[in-house]
Amino acid sequence: MVHLPLIITVLIATASVATSSDAPPYTNHTVGGQSGWFFNLTTSTPSANYSSWAANQTFNLGDYLIFNTNTNQTVIQTYNETTYKSCTTDEDSGDETFVFFGSQEIGKPAMVAVPLTIEGVNYYFSDADDGTQCDKGMGFEIMVGHGRGLPPSLNQPPPPPYVAPPMDSPPSDTVTTNQGQTFYNGGSGIRVRFGMAVLLLLFSSGFLLQ
Ligand SMILES: *[C@@H]1O[C@H](CO)[C@@H](O)[C@H](O)[C@H]1NC(C)=O
Ligand SMILES: *[C@@H]1O[C@H](CO)[C@@H](O)[C@H](O)[C@H]1NC(C)=O
Ligand SMILES: *[C@@H]1O[C@H](CO)[C@@H](O)[C@H](O)[C@H]1NC(C)=O
Ligand SMILES: *[C@@H]1O[C@H](CO)[C@@H](O)[C@H](O)[C@H]1NC(C)=O
Ligand SMILES: *[C@@H]1O[C@H](CO)[C@@H](O)[C@H](O)[C@H]1NC(C)=O
Ligand SMILES: *[C@@H]1O[C@H](CO)[C@@H](O)[C@H](O)[C@H]1NC(C)=O
Repeated sequence: MVHLPLIITVLIATASVATSSDAPPYTNHTVGGQSGWFFNLTTSTPSANYSSWAANQTFNLGDYLIFNTNTNQTVIQTYNETTYKSCTTDEDSGDETFVFFGSQEIGKPAMVAVPLTIEGVNYYFSDADDGTQCDKGMGFEIMVGHGRGLPPSLNQPPPPPYVAPPMDSPPSDTVTTNQGQTFYNGGSGIRVRFGMAVLLLLFSSGFLLQ
């Protein structure tokens, strides 16, 4: 015979461990605030001081960075400090760097949403104009905390790798984004908790059946 109230108690206790309700809610951070993610070629300056913008924010897993920009800039994410400081991805053959947004077009408006999926230091920069933008301050680093952990929508295995289209396909005028290539760390959290709940359930029912 299965003792229903005890099992329900166990499940509720497990569920409340799963969500730390005092962590801040998921937040979307608009990079540079009203100024957006732009570089002025005439003055050779970014539209905002992104380091001081970032210093005034708290970032957690499951938050998004929203880049309001156009195709004159790129959005590169890296966990590699050397790559960030060098303002180029050319020397980086590792798997810590992603081109979230990059295009050959000029001045076409774009909105790029970058989910924060790895705790710790994340770096962002634009490598457009052969690194000049980044050299002139078009970059920033953030520290990503745990917060509530990854939401289920981001807690998925990564999509299959990009496969190049056949050579004879017509040229596309769509903006090239590469949003699929994100690392998903800590993806086992929910499965572990579910496994614990099942184990506890089996344990408590077995115990009561004796
Ligand atoms: C944050 O941005 C993501 C990606 O664009 C979107 O799916 C989500 O609804 C936004 N959340 C809020 C609270 O605006
Ligand atoms: C760049 O800055 C100059 C001087 O402040 C300004 O006149 C121009 O409109 C700016 N260009 C863009 C694209 O914002
Ligand atoms: C951006 O602001 C920081 C202070 O938050 C300052 O140290 C830095 O020099 C500024 N960068 C530029 C390019 O003005
Ligand atoms: C930091 O944020 C606070 C509150 O959101 C605001 O009052 C302050 O002006 C901001 N400082 C900077 C440098 O953006
Ligand atoms: C970091 O980037 C540098 C060059 O930018 C590269 O030599 C190094 O192998 C990278 N490290 C990792 C762990 O990928
Ligand atoms: C984009 O860059 C081109 C030069 O490559 C420049 O003429 C144009 O003004 C830029 N557009 C914006 C909106 O900054």
